[in-house]
Amino acid sequence: MEKLIVEGGIPLHGEVRISGAKNAALPLMAATLLTPGRHTLRNAPDLRDTRTFIRLMENLGVKSERNGDVLILDSTHLNSTEAPYNLVKTMRASVLVLGPLLARFGRAKVSMPGGCAIGARPINFHIMGLERLGVICNLEGGYVDAHIDGRMQGNVIYFDIPSVTGTENLLMAAVLADGTTVLRNAAREPEIGNLIDMLNMMGGRIDGRDTDKLTIHGVKELNPADCTIIPDRIETGTYLIAIAATGGSGKVTGCNPAHLPALLEKLRSAGLVIDETEDSISISWPARLQETPILGSVDIKTMPFPGYPTDLQAQYMALMTLGSDICVITETIFENRFMHVAELQRMGAKIRVDGHSAVVSGRGMRGLSGAPVMATDLRASSSLVIAGLAASGRTDISRIYHLERGYENLVEKLTGLGARVWKEQE
Ligand code: EPZ
Repeated sequence: MEKLIVEGGIPLHGEVRISGAKNAALPLMAATLLTPGRHTLRNAPDLRDTRTFIRLMENLGVKSERNGDVLILDSTHLNSTEAPYNLVKTMRASVLVLGPLLARFGRAKVSMPGGCAIGARPINFHIMGLERLGVICNLEGGYVDAHIDGRMQGNVIYFDIPSVTGTENLLMAAVLADGTTVLRNAAREPEIGNLIDMLNMMGGRIDGRDTDKLTIHGVKELNPADCTIIPDRIETGTYLIAIAATGGSGKVTGCNPAHLPALLEKLRSAGLVIDETEDSISISWPARLQETPILGSVDIKTMPFPGYPTDLQAQYMALMTLGSDICVITETIFENRFMHVAELQRMGAKIRVDGHSAVVSGRGMRGLSGAPVMATDLRASSSLVIAGLAASGRTDISRIYHLERGYENLVEKLTGLGARVWKEQE
């Protein structure tokens, strides 16, 4: 296995270009199952998770080819409607093939994803919604074995919690249903807007984009897609936080500031200067603080979009360990998303966890020191990279396959900002 070595204490400066969003690429790839033909997805990131999803799609009979960041998926000849455990267990988002396979073939057998480091990750809302559309779902042997005779029937579906992939799965199920489906308390993340745009471009009729009420007027058939994946807002936020944590300044390009309202507000409140254009964000310290940055400590509470994103909670915590006061970080989405705390404490961070809240006592911009640490999940691992960049001395991060799930060309992008990072064998 490989580890990532980070030489800390070097302020990051320069420009970094953002890749396509992992959490948009996965549902958009699943949507190509809805209709035969050659589908084109542009700005497609090349990540461990997207490569796993392509393997899953090829297992169903999809033919794929990649030309740089253009991904071509031909779903004309599918020869299976089963997503096996050995693939699904490594990536929960595989559950996204359930909706489109049922919409096209009336049957699908998908392994239950199981939990992961951050929580139990149930899929009961996915199942509930499909059953409301007339699907018979049998849960046995660790699989969801689902089928329906004929087309799904439109219905009203209410989410107790605005589930991102639950909303995406049911959008893809309902787009070919007979009649109208209404999703209430639906998730509003930008990745869902990207999927709605793709489905409408294919001939779907979906209203309510960016709201919590989505109305899907079922159509009889769809055309192949040619669409562009939105920039990765979590990657964007990760680099902004990394630049701030090292006392540097920089510009993140190829991104969409409108997808990060909560983070930009919090960074401004903590004292950073943020300038936006329609596709870039610049971050710097005010002139009076450039020699000796003093970071404000600002509370966050993770919420569904447009609230503060849970996927940027760990990264923000790494930043707040450098703050000048105390802040409280409350995680409301997942039940076990503080796995990075123990690792940050190894680097000198002062954090106390109390249930769903973590109290971070900032120790100033020089508060961390390098240490060997271990990545536990995708976003926790990026918080350790940020801490290592800010710390004095060297940090060795093991199990970096977590990082490779969601950050394209991480070493190259950080090196381009002046960081001293490299990979070594464990
Ligand atoms: C998506 O996961 C993202 N993954 C996650 O990103 C992200 O953290 C999460 O949304 C929240 O924003 C992808 O888009 C591939 P949810 P998802 O369904 O859809 C509960 C990353 O780092 N729930 O919105 O699985 C659930 O337990 C990953 O890229 C049910 O109870 O999350 C959680 O508490 C990590 N029953 C809450 O809802 C269900 O059927 C929100 O989960 C579904 C969800």
